[in-house]
Amino acid sequence: MTTIEIVLGDITRQHVDVIVTAANESLLGGGGVDGAIHRAAGPRLAQAGGAIGPCQPGDAMATPAFDLDPPVRHVVHTVGPVWEGGDQGEADVLASCYRRSLQLADELGARTVAFPAIATGVYGFPSERAARIAVATIRSVPTNVQRVRLVAFDEDTRHHLQAAMAATANRV
Ligand code: APR
Repeated sequence: MTTIEIVLGDITRQHVDVIVTAANESLLGGGGVDGAIHRAAGPRLAQAGGAIGPCQPGDAMATPAFDLDPPVRHVVHTVGPVWEGGDQGEADVLASCYRRSLQLADELGARTVAFPAIATGVYGFPSERAARIAVATIRSVPTNVQRVRLVAFDEDTRHHLQAAMAATANRV
């Protein structure tokens, strides 16, 4: 059974096997959490991402973690949906980001994985709804990953993640 934990902080400081980044389709890096991870991992991350991209929304692709501190071994790049009001399949694409990233981390032999709040920044996905999708999807995916850390960068995101955990904790 995968343990889900919620922390407030910077994903580049997490001591986990795999860090997931909220990328754009080019995998060449950008702003937000993607920018922070690329700055921490160094320029080879963009080179490696560019060599395997583009990545379609909802899919996930892995590269080494380069200059990120150990024990981080891989960066999983996933592309979230741009929020367009909620009737363009955004929820399914976001769920797919969490599912495919976790499956890929599992294939890489990761035991601990850190996720940011994918798509809730530049892409505009409502944080509360995104939190529910994140928790429900992670709980639904069979995996050997022992610990998933949901990293909130602000209190509002942490609150929504904690509420999503509480809401699903009673469901067996
Ligand atoms: N650690 C953890 N979370 C972070 C960090 C960080 N260092 N920096 C930002 N975040 C959070 C944001 O506060 C937000 O909650 O990551 C979440 C995702 O926001 P974005 O990084 O804007 O990602 P997204 O909304 O998926 O947009 C992706 O933005 O940076 C570009 O190249 C990226 O085009 C892509 C788009």
